[in-house]
Amino acid sequence: MGPAVLFFLVLAAASLLPSTAQPWRYPHYPNNTTNLSTVWTNNGKFSFYNSSAVRPILQGLSPEQDPELPGFAFVAGFICALTPTCDMSLFAIFIVHVYAGILERFYPVQVVWCANRASPVGENATLELTTDGNLVLRDADGSHVWSSNTSGQSVAGMLITKIGNLVLFDHKNATVWQSFDHPTDTLVLGQSLQEGTRLIASTSATNMTQNQLYITVLPHGLCAYAESAPPQPYYCSPSVPNNKKGNVTFVNGSLVRSDFSDISQLRPAKSTQYMRLDSDGHMRLYEYEWSMEKWTVEYDILQIDDCAYPTVCGEYGICTQGQCACPLQNYSCSSYFKPVDERKPNLGCTPITPISCQEIQHHSLLTLTDISYFDKSHDIVNLSEEDCKQACLKNCSCRAVMYSYDRLGPGRCTWMTKVFSLQAIQPVGNLSSSTYLKVQLNPSISASSSNKKKVMVGATLGAITALALLVIVVIFYLQRRNKYEDKDEEFDFNRLPGKLTRFSLETLRACTEGFNKKLGEGGFGSVFEGKLDEQRVAVKRLEGARQGKKEFLAEVETIGSIEHINLVSLVGFCAEKLERLLVYEYMSRGSLDRWIYYRHNNPSLDWCTRCRIILDIAKGLCYLHEECKRKIVHLDIKPQNILLDDNFNAKVADFGLCKLINRDQSKVVTVMRGTPGYLAPEWLTSQITEKVDVYSFGVVVMEIVSGRKNIDHSRPEEEVQLINVRREKAQNDQLVDLIDKHSDDMVSHQKEVIQMMKLAIWCLQNDSIQRPSMSVVIKVLEGSMSVETIDANSVMPVQHYASTCSVPPQASVLSGPR
Ligand SMILES: *[C@@H]1O[C@H](CO)[C@@H](O)[C@H](O)[C@H]1NC(C)=O
Ligand SMILES: *[C@@H]1O[C@H](CO)[C@@H](O)[C@H](O)[C@H]1NC(C)=O
Ligand SMILES: *[C@@H]1O[C@H](CO)[C@@H](O)[C@H](O)[C@H]1NC(C)=O
Ligand SMILES: *[C@@H]1O[C@H](CO)[C@@H](O)[C@H](O)[C@H]1NC(C)=O
Ligand SMILES: *[C@@H]1O[C@H](CO)[C@@H](O)[C@H](O)[C@H]1NC(C)=O
Ligand SMILES: *[C@@H]1O[C@H](CO)[C@@H](O)[C@H](O)[C@H]1NC(C)=O
Ligand SMILES: *[C@@H]1O[C@H](CO)[C@@H](O)[C@H](O)[C@H]1NC(C)=O
Ligand SMILES: *[C@@H]1O[C@H](CO)[C@@H](O)[C@H](O)[C@H]1NC(C)=O
Ligand SMILES: *[C@@H]1O[C@H](CO)[C@@H](O)[C@H](O)[C@H]1NC(C)=O
Ligand SMILES: *[C@@H]1O[C@H](CO)[C@@H](O)[C@H](O)[C@H]1NC(C)=O
Ligand SMILES: *[C@@H]1O[C@H](CO)[C@@H](O)[C@H](O)[C@H]1NC(C)=O
Ligand SMILES: *[C@@H]1O[C@H](CO)[C@@H](O)[C@H](O)[C@H]1NC(C)=O
Repeated sequence: MGPAVLFFLVLAAASLLPSTAQPWRYPHYPNNTTNLSTVWTNNGKFSFYNSSAVRPILQGLSPEQDPELPGFAFVAGFICALTPTCDMSLFAIFIVHVYAGILERFYPVQVVWCANRASPVGENATLELTTDGNLVLRDADGSHVWSSNTSGQSVAGMLITKIGNLVLFDHKNATVWQSFDHPTDTLVLGQSLQEGTRLIASTSATNMTQNQLYITVLPHGLCAYAESAPPQPYYCSPSVPNNKKGNVTFVNGSLVRSDFSDISQLRPAKSTQYMRLDSDGHMRLYEYEWSMEKWTVEYDILQIDDCAYPTVCGEYGICTQGQCACPLQNYSCSSYFKPVDERKPNLGCTPITPISCQEIQHHSLLTLTDISYFDKSHDIVNLSEEDCKQACLKNCSCRAVMYSYDRLGPGRCTWMTKVFSLQAIQPVGNLSSSTYLKVQLNPSISASSSNKKKVMVGATLGAITALALLVIVVIFYLQRRNKYEDKDEEFDFNRLPGKLTRFSLETLRACTEGFNKKLGEGGFGSVFEGKLDEQRVAVKRLEGARQGKKEFLAEVETIGSIEHINLVSLVGFCAEKLERLLVYEYMSRGSLDRWIYYRHNNPSLDWCTRCRIILDIAKGLCYLHEECKRKIVHLDIKPQNILLDDNFNAKVADFGLCKLINRDQSKVVTVMRGTPGYLAPEWLTSQITEKVDVYSFGVVVMEIVSGRKNIDHSRPEEEVQLINVRREKAQNDQLVDLIDKHSDDMVSHQKEVIQMMKLAIWCLQNDSIQRPSMSVVIKVLEGSMSVETIDANSVMPVQHYASTCSVPPQASVLSGPR
């Protein structure tokens, strides 16, 4: 094969099969040329054939047309075949069947060129070849849609050639304008793609609007790109030594350099062909298969791995052998990206928090090991991995960097301003590459920074306002003190946080339809569904006799002051006489126990959802333990107290048992509370710290991944308590037996599930000091610490777990700007 051949396609020879001649005929359109000052209107009877509807204007016969045989012709005209309702038309060139030179039928209609790809026109739109030689497409209202821009260039007429080129020619028969110079996404046989000209892919088969993929000819060969600034190449032909400029021409089933002359290298095409840059970025050669009466794909020109196409898994999607997934921190659970459409993973992913250049201080890099990227052209050599990451963090337009290295050479730092699909790779030998995606940390994760902001906002308030506030506060305080001394039962409510609404008993009775629809039984009373201004709420009616005012106030105060995405928020309360009610946000999917014990006919949750739920609980608890002004221990963590919203976001509910501990105190003595099955062993010694929640969290995690209750009396005696079974299985390395078998998805994630169990086991240690803090749990869940280090015998120094929640939990892996 000569070096000048870019692509060479071998096509089996086959004789033309006679067509199954159709009796249906359409009026003969012999004209292939037209004079100036002609107007065609997009109306009148469409020529329909099996959903293709066309209004031919000019017809050119197929080059090697035997007038007696069925063949093809190129027709320029209006076509509305792309939309099922046929209400929008394109002015296009398309291939149709002919028989004995007569347009015989319009199936299949194949569009090969289009003037108005992004702006289809309606009924009564016009195409006009004006007297000054401009070809103009206007919509029915006269608005300009497209034109050839050839006014005043001595155009004498328009013709369509046999090979499908629409030409405006002058009086010397010279070409003034031709459609071949303005290709859309298709090349026809005999057409050249000139240097610098692009074929741009369409959005879809039914929408010819261009997408971001294109192919173009460069001096050294053909390259395909994904549009961004700068464009990212996903394919380049091997470069050929050349001294001429590099047009390519589509001849007889091959795409060759235009100066290529050794035609013995070419095989004749057996039938009509076209070559198209499809919407998925593949460049395919199509040929009409007479025996099947359809266009078939003969060849995929670019010949690259399916996962190497920029849009195979959408933006930020990771392609693993054709399967798409969103980026997770080293395949653990993380929540920086969500799928654009849960049911269509190939549409890609979006950052949950969009990157904001104003908040560059919250930018971080998410580490993805063994992930590569198709575009390796924008690389900087001789940069260390750390410098590569820092360079990206410093520049807002950088959205990701890939660092690839082999042990011998220097690493390559590749820079991306837009992130298309990523590729999972198997590291081969010394070659490896990691990709770091820029993510926007949610400032709410970082308490210190949000506090700073509040301080700043506060500081900007005028001094007068502050003074006025002070006066009000003092007056308020004095009044309150007086009332206190009066022992007025109601006074305490006055100092409740301002954003809580105080409801009357009557309002709540009405909104719950007389406490009718019971949602469940909570720690201190029953919960009812209600509706306030069309918004659903959950109203918790505390049982007066057992519920002291002290607990009630504690609960209202505590919950009212806490706001976190993973904590159920309090909307308001009611306190009248002996009635005590709390109004919470409504959580549509109810409590977690309904989803993990298989008692409510709910479908089983997949691994990723369970993973997210576990992370949500951990974040909620971490907030309570480490980020509130005062440390809050929940004391009753169990699936009944974890509520789920529509999207299975989990929130920790019911602070009825909350005890407030001063941050300085690490231990507090309290009355024994909680729920059997979830109680940490130290309840027996009454040395209670927030680590009791960590223990209960461990139990809940075990339940989530095992799909059963910790204490299940319906089981054989030796299996009644999951945690005991777990101990035994862990000792015998049989944790796999505990995985929820209802869900195939869980079974297929066996390795990760066992890692999760190991994390639970870490939380379930009898010695509360050895249990991790919730911030460490989050680090493990997000992949920045390994569970492998956990070992029943390992003694972790306590200071290791010093409260780190004020630093973003990801900090140790996500290197933030310095
Ligand atoms: C083709 O040309 C003839 C005159 O030669 C004209 O009468 C006829 O309308 C033309 N048809 C079309 C579709 O332009
Ligand atoms: C175009 O114009 C030429 C002369 O100006 C005339 O001979 C010819 O018939 C015209 N063709 C059509 C299709 O009107
Ligand atoms: C119409 O076209 C579709 C394919 O586009 C084909 O499956 C179907 O058989 C055709 N119907 C007729 C009546 O030819
Ligand atoms: C197109 O024009 C014809 C005749 O002028 C008219 O009867 C018809 O309603 C128009 N169609 C639309 C969609 O405007
Ligand atoms: C005609 O000119 C307009 C404005 O300069 C341009 O947008 C359009 O692409 C041109 N059309 C063609 C066919 O080159
Ligand atoms: C137009 O058709 C006539 C015969 O109908 C043919 O001789 C002529 O070459 C065609 N012109 C082009 C540009 O295809
Ligand atoms: C242009 O081509 C037509 C036939 O296609 C021919 O009759 C005419 O003489 C040519 N004109 C010139 C100026 O070459
Ligand atoms: C075609 O795709 C473009 C770009 O994706 C979109 O804006 C447009 O609405 C689509 N048109 C139709 C008719 O779906
Ligand atoms: C490429 O195409 C252009 C326009 O047709 C032409 O002028 C040029 O000579 C061609 N170059 C080569 C190397 O064929
Ligand atoms: C292309 O194939 C046709 C027959 O299908 C043949 O006549 C022609 O010479 C071929 N062209 C080249 C450049 O090989
Ligand atoms: C990611 O996983 C790989 C192997 O599974 C491990 O070598 C690497 O340390 C992990 N990276 C992080 C940040 O946890
Ligand atoms: C790359 O780094 C090596 C060693 O640090 C140095 O010898 C070499 O000159 C550098 N190359 C470039 C292009 O900076």
